[in-house]
Amino acid sequence: MSDPRPNQTNSSPSGASRQKPNIVAVANQKGGVGKTTTAINLATALSATGEHVLLIDLDPQGNASTGLGVPREDRATGTYALLLDGASPKDVALTSFVPNLDVIAAEPDLAGAEIELVSTERREYRLRDALAQLGPDHPYSFVIIDCPPSLGLLTLNGLVAADSVLVPLQCEFFALEGISQLMRTIERVKRALNPALRLQGIVLTMFDRRNNLSDLVAADARGFFGTQVYDTVIPRNIRISESPSHGKPVILYDFRSPGAQAYIRLAQELLQRERPQPVNAA
Ligand SMILES: Nc1ncnc2c1ncn2[C@@H]1O[C@H](COP(=O)(O)OP(=O)(O)O)[C@@H](O)[C@H]1O
Ligand SMILES: [Mg+2]
Repeated sequence: MSDPRPNQTNSSPSGASRQKPNIVAVANQKGGVGKTTTAINLATALSATGEHVLLIDLDPQGNASTGLGVPREDRATGTYALLLDGASPKDVALTSFVPNLDVIAAEPDLAGAEIELVSTERREYRLRDALAQLGPDHPYSFVIIDCPPSLGLLTLNGLVAADSVLVPLQCEFFALEGISQLMRTIERVKRALNPALRLQGIVLTMFDRRNNLSDLVAADARGFFGTQVYDTVIPRNIRISESPSHGKPVILYDFRSPGAQAYIRLAQELLQRERPQPVNAA
């Protein structure tokens, strides 16, 4: 086997078998808006609260794999094998150095997947079908999918496999442009391929409080999408941009930094949204 570390998935401490995991695709067809940063740090923050998380790197650039410190030589088998070779998640998932967090890396072959998928049977359902192979004893409560910056077949696979979509929106001019295209794609996927898909939420990223434009974009987004925009805003923070070169999520690179703290709050907000506390009837 070419992968030096196969079958090393974390096991649930309780040993309990789980239901289907909660699958969240992080998507926006624009590049550089914070998808990968959000996927890595959300996955890490969820793991830190005791969730068992599988992060799938669906972007041929492999930034999520790099950001989690997966060495190149360990990336021989990953998401491509899942999509095109019928591999099972447990055969290709790697243990990351973050407790409770496994990762399916983007191998070099993934760059060709967008084209190869075109002539493949059930081409939009490949990731969904692969995740359906997670047996009853898998440890995961969450699967986070880091989508590439396009609306091609790779992203479609992410949206079809997911229960919900989390959309990072960069606080800059033109941020809302293009988002209507993404919303139309989500609607189209719901109509034709995955009726259960929900918009998980929109997270404002790279917010710069010294820049009025950030406030304007945030106000616009909240005016348009209302409570679908997370209360938590991710600030522009140098520690976030430094952390990938150390192969670490910012939460481990500098726990006290505003960026790390924001991602911890984002994870808490996501957990609240996904598992609302029962309210006492008055
Ligand atoms: N909140 C932030 N503050 C500072 N830099 C950030 C922040 N979020 C992302 N970055 C940096 O911006 C670049 C693009 O982010 P990334 O998450 O890779 O976007 P995408 O996956 O959407 O292309 C990366 O270099 C990343 O380190
Ligand atoms: Mg990315």
